[in-house]
Amino acid sequence: MFEFYCIIPASRPMNGKLSSTMARRKYGFKTINFAVFFFGLLFGLLTGNWIKGTILGPYSISECGFPEMDSPSGASGEAIDIPYEQGKPQEKKDTFVIVGIMTAKKFIDTRGLSAFRTWVNSINGKVMFFSSEGSKSGYGVPVVPLPGVDDSYPPQKKSFMMLKYMHDHFIDNYEWFVRADDDVFIKGDKLEKFLRSINSSKPQFIGQAGVGKQEELGRLSLLATENFCMGGPGMIFSRETLRRMAPHVGDCLANLYTTHEDVEIGRCVRKYAGIQCTWAYEMQHILYQNYKEDQGSFKKTLKSKEVENAVSLHPVKEPLYLFRIQNYFQSTKIVHLHQKELHLYREINMMEEFIGYRHPNALQNKLALMPSLNKYKPQNDDEVLSWEFITKPIFSHFHNNPKRGLEASLSGAIDDVINQIMQLVNKNARQRGRTIDFKEILYGYRRINPLYGADYILDLLLIYRKHKGRKMTVPVRRHAYVQQSFFQTEFEEEIATFNPKPSMGAHVLHIIRQFAVGAETKPNIDKRTETIHFVMPLSGRLKIFERFMKNYEEICLLTGENAQLHVVLYKSEREEQALEESIKLLQKYQNKYGGNSIEIIQANGVFSRGRGLELGASRCSKDALLFLVDVDIVMTRSSLNRIRLNTKQRSQVYFPIVFSQYDPVTVCLNHSPHCSCQHDGCHIDPLDFSQDTGYWRQFGFGIAAMYRSDMLSVGGFDLSIQGWGKEDVDLYQKYIESNITIFRSVDPGMTHAFHEIFCDTKLEPAQLVMCIGSRAQSYGAIPYLSKTVYETDSIMKRHEKHTLNVDS
Ligand SMILES: *[C@@H]1O[C@H](CO)[C@@H](O)[C@H](O)[C@H]1NC(C)=O
Ligand SMILES: *[C@@H]1O[C@H](CO)[C@@H](O)[C@H](O)[C@H]1NC(C)=O
Repeated sequence: MFEFYCIIPASRPMNGKLSSTMARRKYGFKTINFAVFFFGLLFGLLTGNWIKGTILGPYSISECGFPEMDSPSGASGEAIDIPYEQGKPQEKKDTFVIVGIMTAKKFIDTRGLSAFRTWVNSINGKVMFFSSEGSKSGYGVPVVPLPGVDDSYPPQKKSFMMLKYMHDHFIDNYEWFVRADDDVFIKGDKLEKFLRSINSSKPQFIGQAGVGKQEELGRLSLLATENFCMGGPGMIFSRETLRRMAPHVGDCLANLYTTHEDVEIGRCVRKYAGIQCTWAYEMQHILYQNYKEDQGSFKKTLKSKEVENAVSLHPVKEPLYLFRIQNYFQSTKIVHLHQKELHLYREINMMEEFIGYRHPNALQNKLALMPSLNKYKPQNDDEVLSWEFITKPIFSHFHNNPKRGLEASLSGAIDDVINQIMQLVNKNARQRGRTIDFKEILYGYRRINPLYGADYILDLLLIYRKHKGRKMTVPVRRHAYVQQSFFQTEFEEEIATFNPKPSMGAHVLHIIRQFAVGAETKPNIDKRTETIHFVMPLSGRLKIFERFMKNYEEICLLTGENAQLHVVLYKSEREEQALEESIKLLQKYQNKYGGNSIEIIQANGVFSRGRGLELGASRCSKDALLFLVDVDIVMTRSSLNRIRLNTKQRSQVYFPIVFSQYDPVTVCLNHSPHCSCQHDGCHIDPLDFSQDTGYWRQFGFGIAAMYRSDMLSVGGFDLSIQGWGKEDVDLYQKYIESNITIFRSVDPGMTHAFHEIFCDTKLEPAQLVMCIGSRAQSYGAIPYLSKTVYETDSIMKRHEKHTLNVDS
């Protein structure tokens, strides 16, 4: 649940004490001296965000993704709907840079609006959107409709007229003029820093130099030494360049040689300003063009050196991703601020020790402690934190699945840690004439104290490149000790009071959703009282079914919940009477509570869970909320709300992780406090979630809640699967592959009561393996089983004999 979402560098070189505790292995190069890193990494634990994201929907983005907005007429909630009045000057921030964005009618309130709500605010100067004649925005995006210009492609006229407009209105007001596309993300602060280092009084034409694609060489009317600035990543003109070129825009437009807008701008600049695009190699890092991902880049991880160092990112085809990028950079900023805070705490602490005075009200702040692996002293055995071992997989003795792939949260955290380490190591790389690149983690350890933070010990393989003096490239191996300090948990006030006043963020989100998704779900459903359709196929198992119905009566029928039960009954070979008895039982409930809310469906043929569920589901309308359930599940009423609130038509399905009980025979040995035994046998309380009574069934996907329409849209169950098992995994897989979100969480109101599992050897092999696995998992708790094995001579003897045989 703890997402590693923020980190920052904090270096405190430690003396050698710690490093001596671990064998330091190295090979290759000896003279570099960064053997031990000690980092304090931080962690803003915004639990609130997580909660909001799951329950309150739109609000989750409102404070994160949508910064305070600079709407043209002030920042009130309504301002957003007032169209931008042309000619009305935006609040002037500075006179440094003006960015002209080329857009088109259809993109103004999508890409343009997203840009306007995200990075545009970071520009120290002005940003304007240029579009065809008659263009306007419904949401206050500052649009300049260029007279006589349409949205046809190539946008040569638009581009030239935009430059002319910027020249005619602002040539004396700004030092730099940027031409950008509408699918770009610009970091205003980095842009300013970059441009401040260049003399704007000289003619400059800055961008990524291009000479045309292979097949176009020789057709662009360029000489071998001539180039142009490629349009996508952006072009930057100094005032002098624009001053020289703009008066000749008409000439340039009348003498086009190609259909490429950027090539022609380049030609015009060369002809009238006498310069061409900078050849500087660095430009491809500064104006970053992502060629890798085919459609719409920056969809995957943003944690890369390129994204970190770039001034602009291009192309971001999906408008919502601008918010994602903005969010990412803002969270990085928060982390940096936390890091500063941490340093200040430590400084205060150090000073107080130094002067031998402690303020009586001084905060006993755990963050003020210097990083050390011995920061937190365990008082007894139980408090000793254990380490997990990481190689390619991760190994932990306390996890259900002791050897497993790295979870996304952990591999993300490790990526962050590595990024931080490498940034630190390379801080003075230029002066030292060397760079050090990360190659891989050979192995590592991690432990977490939820109250304080996470520790890592990483064995890193790095590549050391020296490019001054005697050049060389050598692999080196080093240990990094990394400490990540957790800050206080932060709760958003909005959650505490749940104040549903429409925030501007929510409003914007709504608008963006509309153009992203097309149609919103029906607005009038009250999710808190929506009807839940229980769908349950059944074959035999009469006793268990009686228990199920009793439970159903308690939570749904007696309480008057909005629920419908659809039971699909199959004939059972082993319990011949079961079908009739089940029908009788259901009729009893129908008589008592009215027939409408309970439906009995008789199915033909042999039992197939998938087919049974399909049959039950087919009785419901497309907009019905289905809950696919098994007869073994014992529920509480609170789960009903989770079923309702964790599903959303066309966008989210709920796959709860249920608690699965162990065999009472093993649990109830030795007068276990977890059992209550009566004349009819021993029982475990379904709500007793202890390590001894059961486990969370992480790999069970059978219990699920979803809308009928979503089930249909992914193709429903695979009807060719017979009997029990695998059909649920198949459906889950289909959701993974679809664009519907799976919400998966433990549900503390659903327990899978123990029943003996009978694995029919006639099952298909994959199903049989699953069945045997499930059966083995429910024998009992692992500590109990291992103890049994150790204490049972016959088992141990056999094992030894076996091992001896193998050895000899
Ligand atoms: C910038 O360029 C102008 C024109 O070439 C020159 O006069 C001025 O001294 C330069 N400024 C700096 C700081 O180099
Ligand atoms: C999901 O995909 C379906 C088609 O597979 C499409 O009609 C629908 O608009 C998509 N929904 C979203 C939210 O992208």
